[in-house]
Amino acid sequence: MTAVGIDAIEIRTGKLKLDLAETFAPAKEEDPKKYTKGLGLEASSFPDTYEDIVTMGANAAKRLMDRKGLVPDDIGRIDVATESAFDNSKPVSTYIAGCLEDVYDGDFHHANKGERKFACVAATQSVDDAYNWIRAGRNRGRAALVIATDTALYARGDPGEATQGAGAVAMLVDEEPSLVEISTEQGYGSADETDFLKPNQQFPSVDGKRSVKVYLARMREALEDFETVAGRTHPDGFAYIPFHTPFPGMVRKAALLGFRHMTRNTDIEDDLEGEIGRQPRQDDYEDWDAYEDAIREYMDLLKETDRYETWYNRTIDPTLTFSRKVGNWYTGSVHVARASALKTAAETGRALSGERLLVGSYGSGAQAEMHAETVADGWREEIEALDFKEQLSRRYDLSFEEYGRVHDAHNHEKERELEEFTVPSGEFVFTGWGRMNERTYEYVE
Ligand code: CAA
Repeated sequence: MTAVGIDAIEIRTGKLKLDLAETFAPAKEEDPKKYTKGLGLEASSFPDTYEDIVTMGANAAKRLMDRKGLVPDDIGRIDVATESAFDNSKPVSTYIAGCLEDVYDGDFHHANKGERKFACVAATQSVDDAYNWIRAGRNRGRAALVIATDTALYARGDPGEATQGAGAVAMLVDEEPSLVEISTEQGYGSADETDFLKPNQQFPSVDGKRSVKVYLARMREALEDFETVAGRTHPDGFAYIPFHTPFPGMVRKAALLGFRHMTRNTDIEDDLEGEIGRQPRQDDYEDWDAYEDAIREYMDLLKETDRYETWYNRTIDPTLTFSRKVGNWYTGSVHVARASALKTAAETGRALSGERLLVGSYGSGAQAEMHAETVADGWREEIEALDFKEQLSRRYDLSFEEYGRVHDAHNHEKERELEEFTVPSGEFVFTGWGRMNERTYEYVE
């Protein structure tokens, strides 16, 4: 069977930065460690006034196409995943295609375009759609462009405000991929939940504490469902496990839960028995609450063991390096986590070809998805081509007062006018509104 997966990836951050420890925490009169240690975040990326989901997506896609030497004829579909859309009918992919057509010869008239919505899991679903389209033999030798793009902003004063972010990830899904091959096996954990939603509003309604519980419950279900098709997972079976990362502290919780699940009835549980005992078994407890208390106690001990810490530092921590500096990018977040891990591997000279990744995506509302990926031979060259670190170091560092002004300008309200903080160069920019209230864009040399 021909391998299908992600051939190339490009990441585009919003060009502004809000430093959480230096700028946000003092203004909120809070301990900076709540952000850096508790949530695990150093900074958030923000879009400048001329940036939005279209410009960030189009700029990531253009860099990807230029780097891979692609022209519009090479692309058979453009799927955009976002939870920050500004139109209930016209998909963002048409805007992005329109931008790209301004700078390339040819057009995307032959390409199927769409927009996927299921909170942060939508980009993984779009990768899935592209995978299935290729597997079904309907791609006529063409690749799919999947773009995850979001301005993940919360209302001022909402507890989620500390976890904001903005950026886009463009991925080329193709046969014989250079970066990762995607497994056929996948697992789902999906239920009707009211934890985080945006009922026709740009800033979300969030039950933060509940959203954390729902994330863990659905992720666990997805892992169990994955195991029913792929067989039991073992923590040492994967080089990295990139999770959807609303903030690194969330992944810390998910990783511990996953490690406990994967080590049950294994050599690792046996090895740790002398140090922390065996995992509680439900049959040994009279009721569910007592069982849950025992599990919590076991997990508190487990996370302090060298075995767990070594595994976490090798398998999970490298997936969080980028996220710490940019915050939550909603649909792009799990794809940033994968890139972060691969970048770390490249920088530390780790050999990865043929190694496996376990990827845990999640969208509120709620659905988790798990699948495995095999790192392809061309991964190092692909990941070394990313200029993400350079982009991060060029971000404009907002003062708290500037942050306040730029925040609400992104509520898609026309009347707010604000000077830009950076000077656009060699990129697509938002220019205003047209006669039918459509958003307009141009490429600035
Ligand atoms: N030093 C060290 N740690 C500190 C600290 C300090 N001074 N002060 C607080 N902390 C720790 C807390 O103990 C806590 O850690 P634990 O959860 O491990 O105990 C952490 O910092 C956060 O503190 P709080 O729980 O008090 O923070 P909060 O209530 O203000 O906000 C939140 C947390 C509810 C998650 C909030 O950020 C939020 O609403 N975020 C948006 C929703 C979200 O991201 N949910 C995640 C799952 S849903 C999802 O994944 C979809 C998505 O993308 C939105």
